[in-house]
Amino acid sequence: MGKLEKQREHVHTLKAGSSTLLILSLDKVDPPDMTALKVAVIGAGAAGLCAARYLGAKPDVFQPVVFEQTGRIGGTWVYVEETGQDKNGLPIHSSMYETLKTNLPKEIMAFTDFPFRDTLPSFIGHADVLKYLEDYADHFKLLRHIKFWTVVESVTPIKKEESDREKWIVKVKNVLDKSRPVESDVFDAVIVCNGHYSVPYTPPIPGLEEFKGDFIHSHHYRRPDGYKDKIVAMIGAGNSGRISPSI
Ligand SMILES: Cc1cc2nc3c(=O)[nH]c(=O)nc-3n(C[C@H](O)[C@H](O)[C@H](O)COP(=O)(O)OP(=O)(O)OC[C@H]3O[C@@H](n4cnc5c(N)ncnc54)[C@H](O)[C@@H]3O)c2cc1C
Ligand SMILES: NC(=O)c1ccc[n+]([C@@H]2O[C@H](COP(=O)([O-])OP(=O)(O)OC[C@H]3O[C@@H](n4cnc5c(N)ncnc54)[C@H](OP(=O)(O)O)[C@@H]3O)[C@@H](O)[C@H]2O)c1
Repeated sequence: MGKLEKQREHVHTLKAGSSTLLILSLDKVDPPDMTALKVAVIGAGAAGLCAARYLGAKPDVFQPVVFEQTGRIGGTWVYVEETGQDKNGLPIHSSMYETLKTNLPKEIMAFTDFPFRDTLPSFIGHADVLKYLEDYADHFKLLRHIKFWTVVESVTPIKKEESDREKWIVKVKNVLDKSRPVESDVFDAVIVCNGHYSVPYTPPIPGLEEFKGDFIHSHHYRRPDGYKDKIVAMIGAGNSGRISPSI
C-alpha cells in the first residue's frame, strides 16, 4: 500500500461516537514526500478530540491544529449556568441541564480504545462524561494540539489555479483580546467538529406570540426552579422531553 493510500485509510476511519466528522478535503492531495499534512480541526468536543487523537498518532503524516473558541475541551458536555452569551460575547454553546444523564449506557458510548471507569454506573451524569473526555485528552496528550480561545471565522478553498494542490485558508480570531487582528493560515485539510446542537430552533407555532407565560427553548433550560406550581407544556418528545419528569 502506497503512502497516499495509507493516509486515505487513516482519514476515512476516523470515528467519534454519535458525532459527525465532515471531511472537507484530503483525497485530492499529492503524495507528500516532504512535510506532514497540516490539518485544521474546528472544535475540541468529543469529535475534535477523537480527530486529534488519530491525526496526532501519525506525526510523520499529519500535523493537526485544533481551534477551540472556549477555554475548555468537552464541547456540549461543559455544563454552564449561564444562558445567552458568555462573557466574551460568544453564544453559550452547551445545552446541558443540571440533572442530565446519558441516554446511552457508558458501555456503548465510549471510544473503542478508551473505556469509561469501571466504578461508574451505566447511565452517568454530564460531569462524568466531561471528566471522561478530559481523561481521554490527557491520556493521548491532546492538549498540545489545541489552540484555546480561538474562534474559526471562515474557511475558504484556494482555487486550483493558484496552488499546485487544493488547500484551505482558515481565518481565526482570539476571543479574549479583540484588538488582535484576524489571523489566517493555510491547511491541507479541514475537519469540521463544531457540534450541531448549539443553535436552538423553534418551529413556527401559530399563536405563540400571543402566549403570556414564560417560554424557553430547551437549549436555555438548566433546572426546574421557577416552574413549581405552574402548568407547563412541553413541545417535542425527543430526548429533551426527558426534562419533564424533573419539572
Ligand atoms: C443535551 C444533549 C444531551 C446529549 N446526550 C447524549 C448522550 O447521552 N449520549 C450521546 O452519545 N450523545 C449525546 N448527545 C450528543 C452530543 O452532541 C455528542 O455526544 C457529542 O458530545 C458531540 O460532540 P461534538 O464534538 O460533535 O460537538 P460539541 O460537543 O458540540 O463540540 C463542538 C466544539 O466546537 C467548538 N466550536 C464551535 N464552533 C467553533 C468555531 N467556529 N471555532 C472554534 N471552535 C468552535 C465549541 O466551542 C465546542 O467545544 C447529547 C447532546 C445534547 C445537546
Ligand atoms: N442524554 C439525554 O438525556 C439528552 C437530553 C436532551 C437531548 N439529548 C440529545 O440532544 C439531541 C437533540 O435532542 P432534542 O430532543 O432536543 O431534539 P430532537 O431530537 O430534534 O427532538 C425534537 C422533537 O420535537 C418534535 N417537534 C418538532 N416540532 C414540533 C411541533 N411543532 N409540535 C410538536 N412536536 C414538535 C419532533 O417531532 P418530529 O420528529 O415528529 O419532528 C421531535 O420529537 C439528541 O441527540 C438527543 O439525544 C440527550
